[in-house]
Parts: sequence; structure tokens; C-alpha cells
Amino acid sequence: MARTKILIDCDPGHDDAVAILYAARQLDLLGLTTVHGNNTLERVTHNALSILALGGIDVPLAMGCATPLVAPMHPIAEAHGKTGLDGADLPAPRARPIAQHAVDFIIETARAHQGELVLAAIGPCTNVAMALKKEPRLAEWLREITVMGGSTTLGNIRAVAEFNIWCDPEAAAVVFDSGARIRMVGYNVTIATGTSAADIARLRQGGRVAGTIAGLLDFFLARGRAALGLQVAPMHDVCAIVPYVDETLLIYRHVNVAVETQGTHTRGMTICDLRTLTEEGMLTRAGRKPNAHVAIASDAPRLISGVVDTLLSYP
Ligand code: RIB
Ligand code: CA
Repeated sequence: MARTKILIDCDPGHDDAVAILYAARQLDLLGLTTVHGNNTLERVTHNALSILALGGIDVPLAMGCATPLVAPMHPIAEAHGKTGLDGADLPAPRARPIAQHAVDFIIETARAHQGELVLAAIGPCTNVAMALKKEPRLAEWLREITVMGGSTTLGNIRAVAEFNIWCDPEAAAVVFDSGARIRMVGYNVTIATGTSAADIARLRQGGRVAGTIAGLLDFFLARGRAALGLQVAPMHDVCAIVPYVDETLLIYRHVNVAVETQGTHTRGMTICDLRTLTEEGMLTRAGRKPNAHVAIASDAPRLISGVVDTLLSYP
């Protein structure tokens, strides 16, 4: 069966780096676009180009938006260190970004592969929202948008807000209200779907690529333990990619997702309506039509084992 065509919008970021290497091996990766998030646009672009060089991956990269749609620029996340990819010596970029803006690259790639292209949004949704606004047909052209973001329960950057959505809630609202086919994996699943110290030790026994990723994940695990008491380095972003390799790795429910853009304490929250409303309930309890397939569980051991094996397949 032909491999799924995928374009990844990212903000590397440790887990973004793993997602890129995994997608390049397992799927038909057509390119990357970069967006503000874990660090500045310039920095995450440099990081993405370094990961492409590390993996020997030859795909185009287009730079996107440096700030959110309307929100002020957020502080740089300490979770990924000063460079956004602390923990290992990475190769210098071997390529430069293409001249085309990420928003146009997304639109043109989707136009060229109508019905086939999956767009992975694994950073804030600014580029994706801008592309949907500039070309409304994009929602139809895309096979699906797979979002790493939000949560059906707790948040990470705030009590009920996950970082990608919290950085640009207005953009996330545009995406979830666009009518596009959406698959969402949130922090409720990714918090417990990560690489343990034993997984990282396995990587360290691998080649140059796996060894480098082991250094990165040592750092990411230490930061997650220090800030959140985590026992694994959450592989947030690769969870958005794995369904196109093995759709049994995550369990989804088709529900309505609304993005809170106003709340003092809840701005950036994804309100996932998991109620089992009847037709009557939809009417009497303000039910809204489902607009996303939302992950509610993962087979974490099998998912992570497959990711580690894929990273070990690199030289
Ligand atoms: O909350 C997790 C998300 O925020 C991931 O995409 C991670 O890379 C950070 O961007
Ligand atoms: Ca990310």
C-alpha cells in the first residue's frame, strides 16, 4: 500500500525532532514548515534544518509565522532549553529554507495532492489557520489535519491549557471550526506516552542518529521530571504521526472540540464534549456537532517501541 503523504508544520523542539525522523522513515514526507513555538521562528527553523541534516533527509522546508495571529508573543518554553533543542551536538544545517512562505507552501502542496495529503500541526496552529483563511478550499483538499494539541483533561503550560493551543488559541479555533477532517491527540494521552530512561539507553546503543537523539531525550526527560515530575519524556508530536503507520496505536472518539479564547483561567483550553448525548440531549444540553476525532487512549508500550526501533534504523 502507498505510504501516506504528509507535510509537517513544526517548532523543533525535542519531540518534533523525533516526529520528523519517524515520519521520514515511515511515511512519504513531502516537506516541513516551521512556526513560532518552542523557540523563535529563526531558532526552530535552524533546529529543523539540523534534524534534516542529522537524518540525511532531503525535503523542502518553508518558514512561516513568527508570532501568533492576535495574541502577544509567548515566552520561550524552558522545556526545550535555550536553543529549543538542548542536550546534544547537532550537525549544522545543510540546506536553507525555500523562498516560499509556509502558508503558500501548505496551500500549493495540498492543491497538488488533493485528497491525499495529511497536514501534521505539531506546533501552534498559526500557519495552518492562515492557510485555511487564505485558501478556504484547503479544508476540502486536505485528507486530514492531524493536530498535536489540547487535552480532554489536564494541561501542561497551564492547569487546563496545552502549550500548542495556548500559544495561539485564535488560530486553533480557526482550525477546529474550519470543517476540515481533524484528528487530535492531546496531553491527556501524550503525558503517559513517552520514552523512559530504559528506552533512551536502548537508543544510546544505536548509531550516530539514535545516539544523538538519546542525548536530546536525556535533556527533555530531565526537564519534564524537574517541572512536572514526569517519569517519561512525552513523545507528544510523534503521537500525531503514528496513526498513519498503525491506526491501532491510538483510540479515538468523534466529538466536538471548542477552543476557549476568552477565559481568564481557561484561555487555550480545548473543551472536548465527551458526553454521550442523545438527539434530545443535543437539543436540551447545547450539544454541538462532532468536528474532530480525539485520542482518548494509547498503546504506549507498542507505540514507543516502534518509535525507538525506527530511530535505531538510522545509521
Ligand atoms: O504541549 C506539547 C507540545 O508543545 C509539543 O508540540 C511540544 O513540541 C511543544 O511544542
Ligand atoms: Ca512541537
